[in-house]
Amino acid sequence: MALNAPKPLAQSGSGVIMPDLTAVLKLPQTVKMSDATFRQLREFIYKQTGIYFQDNKKYLLEGRLGKRLQVLNLPDFERYDQLLRAGTGRADEMRFLYDAVTINETFFFRNEPQFEAFEKTLVPQIVASRKQNGRATLRVWSAASSSGEEAYTIAMIFLERIRPLYPWLDLEVVGTDISRSVLETARSGVYREYSIRNMPPYYLNKYFTADDGRFTLKDDVRRLVHFEHMNLYDRPRMRTMSRFDVVFCCNVLIYFDQQSKIQVVSDLYDSLNPGGYLFIGYAESLHGISSAFKLVNFPKTVAYKKE
Ligand SMILES: C[S@@+](CC[C@H](N)C(=O)[O-])C[C@H]1O[C@@H](n2cnc3c(N)ncnc32)[C@H](O)[C@@H]1O
Repeated sequence: MALNAPKPLAQSGSGVIMPDLTAVLKLPQTVKMSDATFRQLREFIYKQTGIYFQDNKKYLLEGRLGKRLQVLNLPDFERYDQLLRAGTGRADEMRFLYDAVTINETFFFRNEPQFEAFEKTLVPQIVASRKQNGRATLRVWSAASSSGEEAYTIAMIFLERIRPLYPWLDLEVVGTDISRSVLETARSGVYREYSIRNMPPYYLNKYFTADDGRFTLKDDVRRLVHFEHMNLYDRPRMRTMSRFDVVFCCNVLIYFDQQSKIQVVSDLYDSLNPGGYLFIGYAESLHGISSAFKLVNFPKTVAYKKE
């Protein structure tokens, strides 16, 4: 045995029993979540956000909230559940809870057929229906924007392909999300390689400055977009969102159950101008959720029109 090598505690048969390193190095023990606590936490999260964890997603909640136990130095998930339900400390913890239970995957130019339909059909149609007394503003909402890639993609397409055709048209994009940490990234306008992987090089060269693996959006794109914290499941807050021409609400309905989808989609409908359009994720559908919209087909995508 090499000098200074750690001594095994004991030997049995051919196996070497190593010292309990979790105790020696103070590594966190994995805390198990009981089924009863899982159901309680799931119910709490559902009531706050509309996000529903199916039985087979317990491991996800266990892993993600397990990190909160360590940070807060709590011995088990029961204490965490109590913390959320108690008035004290709860408001502070909600921010971390939302970060822990959401999946924030997104990237620039994620669903190109939607942007094509937006640019080539929706905008000309909306513009034609507007009285043109001087300037007009096209209002777009990126609902569940995550770190802002979708909202900024819309702004770049506007600058590049829409404004040259309609110089009198302005654009306002509002990005909203329940997770405050992704909104911080969105507001910073600074991205890594991962976010730009699907972006045409032309846009990257024209609208970003690159420095040491970080890509920073230029101000002419950033000034068209602003971000607000918002829970799509918060009805009074949803009612403050109105007069949008186009709403992109992509890749978030999949986390909701049927009831919350119905509620959220109905509020999105109310947020649109007559003649406005809703886009949802390509793996999502409004079948059984809403019959208020007219389904409109485009090459490789669909949109939902409020008539
Ligand atoms: C997978 S990302 C989708 C981002 C972008 N729309 C896209 O398609 O690339 C889903 C986002 O929905 C947000 N989200 C989940 N539940 C929400 C809720 N109740 N209200 C607002 N945002 C929510 C998450 O924080 C996350 O950033």
